[in-house]
Amino acid sequence: MNPGMKKKSFYITTPIYYPNASLHMGHAYTNVLADILARYHRSIKGETTFFLSGTDDHSIQVAKVAEKAGRNPKDFVLEKGKEFKNLYSKLGVEVDEFIQTSDQEKHWPGAVLLWKKIAKNNDFEKRKYSGLYCIGCEAFKKEVELVDGNCPLHGFAPEFVEEENYFFKLSKYSNILRQKIESGEINIVPETRKKEILSFITMGLEDVSFSRPKKSISWGIPVPNDPGQVMYVWCDALTNYISALGYGRADDENFKKFWPADVHIMGKDILRFHAAIWPAMLISAGLPLPKNILVHGMINSGGRKMSKTLGNVINPLDIVKEYGTDALRYFLAREISTFEDGDFTMERFKDAYNANLANGLGNLVSRVMTMAETHLTEPIKIPEIPIWLEYLDFLNNFEINKTMELIWKEISALDLIIQTELPFKLVKTDLQAGRKIISDLVFSLHTVARMLAPILPETSEKILKLIQENKKPENPLFLRKD
Ligand code: MSP
Repeated sequence: MNPGMKKKSFYITTPIYYPNASLHMGHAYTNVLADILARYHRSIKGETTFFLSGTDDHSIQVAKVAEKAGRNPKDFVLEKGKEFKNLYSKLGVEVDEFIQTSDQEKHWPGAVLLWKKIAKNNDFEKRKYSGLYCIGCEAFKKEVELVDGNCPLHGFAPEFVEEENYFFKLSKYSNILRQKIESGEINIVPETRKKEILSFITMGLEDVSFSRPKKSISWGIPVPNDPGQVMYVWCDALTNYISALGYGRADDENFKKFWPADVHIMGKDILRFHAAIWPAMLISAGLPLPKNILVHGMINSGGRKMSKTLGNVINPLDIVKEYGTDALRYFLAREISTFEDGDFTMERFKDAYNANLANGLGNLVSRVMTMAETHLTEPIKIPEIPIWLEYLDFLNNFEINKTMELIWKEISALDLIIQTELPFKLVKTDLQAGRKIISDLVFSLHTVARMLAPILPETSEKILKLIQENKKPENPLFLRKD
């Protein structure tokens, strides 16, 4: 790198989760995808990377659940935060920062500063308002959006509220947002979600209530200069993407270094908040816009939403306990479509585990390294060569499924070489020719392990170590499960 040239940085965020729900596969999914991209940029592309996740504490439901449990909400969310961090460590997810919006030192100054900037731009207006508020969505709903009077996402009726709120003048940003998204300045992936949000914006955005009277919500960030009002939970939550970097604090080095975000990743359920409200807030405050919004589908089980009543909930921690971290990461990265809704059943999981990890990858490593230990006199020398272009292209475009297909195609190709060229037999008649095939196989396995590093980090490390020591694995990498 030339002296003075700025090293490229990469900033990726997940949504911040409501800490009232029990941890589920959806939480695991978004964070594993984000971790794969963060590891790719950090270790393969060598970029300075910042990976953020956290919790969205000031929701009405969180306050209610804490109260029901007889707990102070602050203690409650801190404890839940620990559960999230535990889940991440079990999933091999390494975040650089975990922000909680009830953190008055880290988060509040940023939320307050952004509010003030928007106010200075004349984008708030106090209005009397009445409407139907769903505490599950934390959003006002229109009558036409309800099914039998209930919110279709949450299955219960929204509350009628009549109050005076600050409104954010979102409507005036419709055209500029449409142009920023159409031109790709804010790149929404996949294309179908880009089209969906563009048609939503084209219908015209409405102004959005950005505060609630303090009497209707028990906790939250007070609105600057109007302590009778508390910030609307989405306005507060979206700001986490910059407050976590130090925006609004004396120490805002990370904000200068990492903003704008390279990727905001999320499920399709909350795209509107991220592709309309959030960029409009940033434009109003004169801040740069995020570069990519990556939208994944939802995970169902047996074609239905996972729910306790249906008895189809699969706990990510149970899977990790029985099959290991990388087995779950494998399934989420390959067997769930990155951009469409995906189905997670134990039957599909077990089949894929046995076929592609126990048999596919695990078996290949055993066969190649057993031959290497027996027939090669020393570890092979690995020349420094760049990783495959196709692989880089896929991951640069967030195509995690396709990356996995590419790697597993190579695994099958190596299996085929063993089956057709029978190097373990050839060494008996032509030692040199047999050894050449074996060392070529070890070299290809090394490439597979390098490509797996961001996706299955533990397994990749194990394979690289075996190659370095020219040893066969003492135990199978993935035990077959019947
Ligand atoms: N707190 C808001 C987000 C604020 S971001 C500034 C919120 N939280 S949430 O706890 O409901 O989590 C939403 C995110 O969790 C989804 O966008 C998605 O990333 C993930 N998922 C929740 N359920 C999921 C599935 N069943 N499947 C896949 N992802 C899911 O909304």
